[in-house]
Amino acid sequence: MDRSYKNILVTGGCGFIGSHFIRHLLGKYKNIKVINVDLLTYCGNPENLKDIARDPRYKFYKADIGDYGAMSHILKSNRINCIVNFAAESDNNKAVNSPLDFAKTNALGTATLLEAARQVGVKRFHHISTCEVFGQLPLKSKFRFTEKSPYNPRTPYNASKASGDLIAKSYFHTFGFPLTISYCSNNYGTHQFPEKVIPVFTLKALQNEPLPVFKSAGNKREWIHVLDHCRAIDLILEKGVIGEAYNIGTGLEKTITDIADGILTVLKKPKNLKEIVPDRPGHDSRYLLDSKKISKLGWKPQKNWSDGLTETVNWYKNNPQWWKPLLVKSNSWR
Ligand SMILES: NC(=O)c1ccc[n+]([C@@H]2O[C@H](COP(=O)([O-])OP(=O)(O)OC[C@H]3O[C@@H](n4cnc5c(N)ncnc54)[C@H](O)[C@@H]3O)[C@@H](O)[C@H]2O)c1
Repeated sequence: MDRSYKNILVTGGCGFIGSHFIRHLLGKYKNIKVINVDLLTYCGNPENLKDIARDPRYKFYKADIGDYGAMSHILKSNRINCIVNFAAESDNNKAVNSPLDFAKTNALGTATLLEAARQVGVKRFHHISTCEVFGQLPLKSKFRFTEKSPYNPRTPYNASKASGDLIAKSYFHTFGFPLTISYCSNNYGTHQFPEKVIPVFTLKALQNEPLPVFKSAGNKREWIHVLDHCRAIDLILEKGVIGEAYNIGTGLEKTITDIADGILTVLKKPKNLKEIVPDRPGHDSRYLLDSKKISKLGWKPQKNWSDGLTETVNWYKNNPQWWKPLLVKSNSWR
């Protein structure tokens, strides 16, 4: 990160990736303050940061990025000079049932935070986006999405993220607002809410229940360990060019069946502990990013899949007190 950023606002910092990013920043940079704004929706969990909650360099506000007054006050009173915007509704399954929540936070909330930041004169705004804004790829294609690929979102989650991105980009083009964006592939690691595939499969397997594998079990995702994502954002905040976007992907593709079998192997459960369930409406076949641009900045993933998956699955196995209370809130828990 650019060493001149001293007061950093992280939004959505009680979620999966945001909490890892806050821990990464406080671990690496000594003379900074990190302000976390999180609305604590069903997946925002202060437990994710309980190890750093008493660090004098850390401050938490329960607030909505869509609340202009609250955002202006927090930005001014903490002299924020850098924002990393993770806050979002992030679950494609939930988006099928409550699409308006997604438009509200991911599009309007992002717009509100951008405007508050512009009025206050924040030096840097990094917006976290997803590979899913580009739409889906055929399973067999050699094509990868570049940062210049056209947006073609197909679900309410993806469309709301695309909307927030476009508003953010307009702030750079119209106002010269100091923006960067990153598009990341599927993240995995500890503290991911049990509605996403790896925790759902792990917790089902731990309870000897069949893993619900979508009918299109050959659909692929590109996987990245959450700490590799955090290191990439940090690098973009140091070397990224204002106005530019960066893909963050590893090239490592896994089918849903690969994931299920990998988890069953780590937990020494039988491979037939699986059941086929109908596809989610709008379930995309595949995403794959061309990440040459961020490689040129000097980033490469450090965590290999087999170690990362084993560590993640074992973390869930050893931390039932973290996930058991969350199952009642999960959209995917059947
Ligand atoms: N998880 C992935 O694989 C992945 C991949 C690419 C991009 N992303 C993006 O990364 C970001 C973080 O994803 P995640 O997986 O950590 O999500 P998450 O659902 O675990 O966390 C989102 C956090 O945002 C908070 N939040 C929601 N609405 C808010 C609002 N209006 N105001 C303030 N806080 C609010 C929630 O309480 C939660 O703590 C999202 O923008 C997501 O689109 C995620």
